[in-house]
Amino acid sequence: ASVDKAGHKHFMSKEIAEQPTVLQGALSHYISPNADAVTLPESGIDFAKIERMTMVACGTAYYACMVAKYWFEQVARMPVEIDVASEFRYREPPVTAGTAALFVSQSGETADTLAALRYMKGKADTILSIVNVETSTIARESDLALPILAGAEIGVASTKAFTCQLTTLAILAIEAARARDHLTDAEVSENLSRLRALPGVINLALGIEDKCKTIARQLAEARDILFLGRGAMYPLAHEGALKLKEISYIHAEAYASGELKHGPIALVDENVPIIVMAPRDSLFEKTVSNMQEVMARGGKVLLITDKQGAAEAGDGVWDTIIMPEIDAFLAPILYAVPAQLLAYHTAIAKGTDVDQPRNLAKSVTVE
Ligand code: G6P
Repeated sequence: ASVDKAGHKHFMSKEIAEQPTVLQGALSHYISPNADAVTLPESGIDFAKIERMTMVACGTAYYACMVAKYWFEQVARMPVEIDVASEFRYREPPVTAGTAALFVSQSGETADTLAALRYMKGKADTILSIVNVETSTIARESDLALPILAGAEIGVASTKAFTCQLTTLAILAIEAARARDHLTDAEVSENLSRLRALPGVINLALGIEDKCKTIARQLAEARDILFLGRGAMYPLAHEGALKLKEISYIHAEAYASGELKHGPIALVDENVPIIVMAPRDSLFEKTVSNMQEVMARGGKVLLITDKQGAAEAGDGVWDTIIMPEIDAFLAPILYAVPAQLLAYHTAIAKGTDVDQPRNLAKSVTVE
C-alpha cells in the first residue's frame, strides 16, 4: 500500500500525530476487551519459568529495551540484562539455563540485531522478538514474534514505532508480573485499564506542539544540549538526545540526573540548554536538587514535567513544558512526545531534511 503524508509536511510529523491511533490498535490487539487479561498468541511463553532475560537492539529500539529493563525488574521482579547488538554479539556472553532472549527491531532486518539473535539460538530457552515488520527475518527466526502494529514508518527518526514498542513491552512486563505472582488479577486489570487510557493522554500531550515550536527556535541556536532523567526517564533522556542529533545535527548528550555531578556539570554554562524530563514521581525531589546544581552554575533548564512538578520545582527554570498527569509506570511512553516534538521543530528551525537526515539509513543491514 502506498503511504502518503496525509496533509503533513513530513512523514515524521504525520507519524507523531498518528500515535494515539496506532497505540489504540496495539492495545486492542494485546488486551482483552474488558481489560482483565493480556492476550498473547497460543505459543506464548511461560514467564514464571524464565529466570532472566537478555534484551538486545540498536538505536531507538535499544532505548525501548532500556525502559523495559526498569519495568521488568520493578514490576515482574525479573533480572534483565540489556545491550546494544553490535557489542552483545562480539562479547560472547555465557548463557545459562533459564535465559530468555528478546530482540526489539522496527524493521526486523538490522544486521547486528539479527546476528545477536542467531548467537542466542540454541543457547537461550526462548527467542522472542518485538517487530514492526511481521514478515521480517528477525520475526521469522524467533520462537515468538510480537508485532507492534505501528504501520509503515517512513521517517528515518523513529517515533510511533518507539511508543508502540514501549507499549508492547509494558504489556509483556505486566503479563510477566502476573505469571510470576507479583501482580494480583485486580492489579493486572488496573494496569491494563490505565494502558487503555494512554491514547487519550497522548492525544492531550500532542497539545504541547506550539509550545515546543517556540522553545525549538531557541534550542536551534545551541551548539550542545544536555538531557537529564532519572529512573525510567533516563532512557527517555537518551531518546530525546538521539532524536535531536539525528535530525537537527545539534550535539546532544543524555545523562542520568544523579551522574551529572561526576563530569558533565563541567560543561554547564548559559549557552548549554539542559532539558530535564521529570514527571512528579517518587524521584522528583532528587531531580530537582540536580536541577538546582545546574541553575546555580548559570545553566538554562527546560523542565518537562506535570502541573504538580512545575509547582514544586520552584523558581529559576528557563522554561517549562507541562505534560498531562500520568501514572509513573506509563510516564516513559508519554514523555516520548516532547522528545519527538522538540527534535522535530528544532530541525525545522534549522532547515534540515527531517525525513531523510544526512548519513542515516532507516534500516541498517550492513554490519
Ligand atoms: C537505524 C535507524 C534508527 C533505528 C535503528 C534500529 O539506525 O535510523 O531509527 O532505531 O536503525 O533499527 P531497527 O529497525 O532494528 O529498530
